[in-house]
Amino acid sequence: MISVALMGHGVVGSGVAEILTTHKQKLFSSVGEEIYLKHILDLRDFPDSPLCDRFTKDFEDIISDREVRVVIETMGGINPAYEFTKRCLGVGKSVVTSNKELVARHGAELLQLAKDNNANYLFEASVGGGIPILRPINQCLVANEVDEIAGILNGTTNFILTKMIDENMPFDEALKLAQDLGYAERNPEADVEGHDACRKICILASLAYGKHIYPDNVHTEGITKIALEDVEYAAVWGGVIKLIGKCKLLPSGLMDIVVAPMFVPCTSQLANINDVFNGIMVRGDCTGDVVFYGKGAGKLPTASAVVADTVDCCKHLKTRKNLFWVDTTDNCIAPYTESLTKVYMRCLAEDADTAYNKAQDIFGDITRLERASAPTGEFAFVTNEDMPYGNILEAVENLEQAGIKVASAIRIGNL
Ligand code: HSE
Repeated sequence: MISVALMGHGVVGSGVAEILTTHKQKLFSSVGEEIYLKHILDLRDFPDSPLCDRFTKDFEDIISDREVRVVIETMGGINPAYEFTKRCLGVGKSVVTSNKELVARHGAELLQLAKDNNANYLFEASVGGGIPILRPINQCLVANEVDEIAGILNGTTNFILTKMIDENMPFDEALKLAQDLGYAERNPEADVEGHDACRKICILASLAYGKHIYPDNVHTEGITKIALEDVEYAAVWGGVIKLIGKCKLLPSGLMDIVVAPMFVPCTSQLANINDVFNGIMVRGDCTGDVVFYGKGAGKLPTASAVVADTVDCCKHLKTRKNLFWVDTTDNCIAPYTESLTKVYMRCLAEDADTAYNKAQDIFGDITRLERASAPTGEFAFVTNEDMPYGNILEAVENLEQAGIKVASAIRIGNL
């Protein structure tokens, strides 16, 4: 029997307790021993839980219990999860987590601590919920140089965009629906401003390229400024708007990494990932594109990944899994202004035709997009050549100085 402890009995944590109970026999077969959930740490009381005798409010009950070999952290947030994780790893207990904020912020340090203490720190559930993605990158695709990773990494924003695309629902209404359905938090900032997706692409990039990529260094844009007009122009162009987290290793050795809404052509597999689903494309030099699809959030999908990591830790109590990246003070990220992209723009001017000619002068090769219900003075176009994003920002300034208001500028994803 292997004793484990759970810290945090919220949505994911209660799902973990449920799977460890309902799938006990299946897990026994896999590990060869019973996984016994000995302690559950939570400040709340759960008198009706079938595991009510296992609850504690005191972390010391877990850290001081030498029988506990694996600790599952589903508390979320930085504090106290960070301190608790450090203490567990520091005494050689392996830790499993779904906490993307903690991994994105302190992953390198915690992986080093695990290594120093011959323990494991696993976090499959931190990206893509129930979708296997970290283990495939780290193991199944290890023979590849990963040229690029791009994904729809946030279910809430994908749900909102799907409603805007399929039902012509304005952003505010779609956000309220997402909140009513329990997808979006009352404070939806982390989702709609792209921070959640940023943490996830940072974890993917760190794993794929072996150096810790910090979220604060990644240019991140959310979806709050997307209008139904843009959704309509994307359809005219032949695609949809998706919030994409993307990273690519440049020949310079620096990383091109960004989170932003993008036009995605209908021919891309990512264009057909809808509602709260996530999809992640990994472009390997041997495999070509490999796409992972599934439920990126939710109690049981996320708990499924947490339990799988727990099983892995139980099977490797005396050995370390080869999952690691290093911290670095070197700058590994290329300035986002140097990132090459094509762009879509929706503009407003007194005379749309004259203004379009001006846009042609500034951008060179562009293609005009037309929509039936465009008001007088509105025009939209896509550029046809890649250019550094900094040049696009300069061009926007030039348009504005010429009296042309740029209502939207959205990257075109090469996906
Ligand atoms: N808020 C996240 C999402 C939850 O919507 O994808 C899973 O990380």
